[in-house]
Amino acid sequence: MTRIGFAYNQKPEVCGLETGTDSESAHGDEDPPSKRRDHSSRTTPEPASRPSLSSRDASGARVAAPPASADPLQDIYAEWDSPATIDAVASALADCGEVIRLEADEDFPARLRAARPDIVFNIAEGLHGTNRESHVPAICEFFGIPYSGSDPFTLSLCLDKARTKELLAFNAIPTAAFFLVRSEDDLRHAPAATERAPLFIKPVHEGSSKGITKRNFVRSPAQLRDGVRHLLATYDQPVLVESYLPGAEFTCGVLGNGDAARVLPIVGLDFSSLPQGAVPIYGFEAKWIWDTPARPLDIFECPARVDAATEAAIRDVVLRTYRVLGCRDWARIDVRLDAAGVPNVVEVNPLPGILPDPADNSCLPKAARAAGIGYDELIQACLTYAAQRAGIALDVPAGAAA
Ligand SMILES: Nc1ncnc2c1ncn2[C@@H]1O[C@H](COP(=O)(O)OP(=O)(O)O)[C@@H](O)[C@H]1O
Ligand SMILES: [Mg+2]
Repeated sequence: MTRIGFAYNQKPEVCGLETGTDSESAHGDEDPPSKRRDHSSRTTPEPASRPSLSSRDASGARVAAPPASADPLQDIYAEWDSPATIDAVASALADCGEVIRLEADEDFPARLRAARPDIVFNIAEGLHGTNRESHVPAICEFFGIPYSGSDPFTLSLCLDKARTKELLAFNAIPTAAFFLVRSEDDLRHAPAATERAPLFIKPVHEGSSKGITKRNFVRSPAQLRDGVRHLLATYDQPVLVESYLPGAEFTCGVLGNGDAARVLPIVGLDFSSLPQGAVPIYGFEAKWIWDTPARPLDIFECPARVDAATEAAIRDVVLRTYRVLGCRDWARIDVRLDAAGVPNVVEVNPLPGILPDPADNSCLPKAARAAGIGYDELIQACLTYAAQRAGIALDVPAGAAA
């Protein structure tokens, strides 16, 4: 039987974590959205202040993480996986061999070395720093153990939205014009284009809509300065300043490799479902505040309603991006149209969110379902692509999407 190592980071039990729309709605006695629903996107590096995830004490018991800041944007636990997601993935993998759970904590290298699985299925975010998503794959490479998904270089690259955009621009793949602000001083050297707002600003190393609110849409030099100052102070990392893309938004799942890589049915975002007057972006408010279990936000449509020419252009830009960045097995790529209707790449998620419950609106499983690929098949397809690359035989069930 094939021995499949399963690398993941599980959300710690959190006491006293506060999140909410704003200070008056952030009640310490309420479960944060991240406990009610798992909004993992698995693309996000940590703010420098992220607490250590040494999540077990000497007896091996899980230790509660320290309380987060009361700032609603500091939802530092948003990306890790819930037990429900981890169990669902493990259950899908179990059809293909013996599953060995390898939580990607500080003991991971030693346990991986001792277990020596034939292959590792990787959904781990990693623990520390802006390269943390690449740590598990790099450790696998160190021990010569094959793994699923993109390699450490691609994972690190995509965690840096500015470096990613540089590579896209070099390859003539449309992406919004941008510059990087490392300190407020840099604004003095801002290109003249910043006088011609609107702009969109965001932390260069975040994901899961962290640091993305209506304040990121800026229309004047004063708003730009205030917004940049706030993001620099809150996230302790450079701020990306981009031209605002005013058109429709889509997110696209990709499965497979080489010439066989294919774009799944496109997911469209319908911003008319946002409260009236809201900035048409998929930000913190849309993801965490306006979308509640009681009143789910009906923002996604899949397949997206889009004309044939635009659909072809989106698929083309997405596949070219996947290849140029060296993505493997699967990914999810965000796209928005510019004023001329040209699809621009917003960001790339080589470790896409894979929440199993359709009510959680996780877009890669959603796109797969629209293509007739169920959750288990999606997981098994990703594993199968990786196994094929490594020349490893799996006990794959009949009908797997790969
Ligand atoms: N240049 C831009 N123009 C318009 N909207 C943008 C731009 N960049 C990001 N957004 C909006 O912000 C959202 C979040 O940005 P994104 O880079 O995808 O961050 P995350 O990693 O949190 O998903 C996007 O889905 C989009 O709605
Ligand atoms: Mg995104």
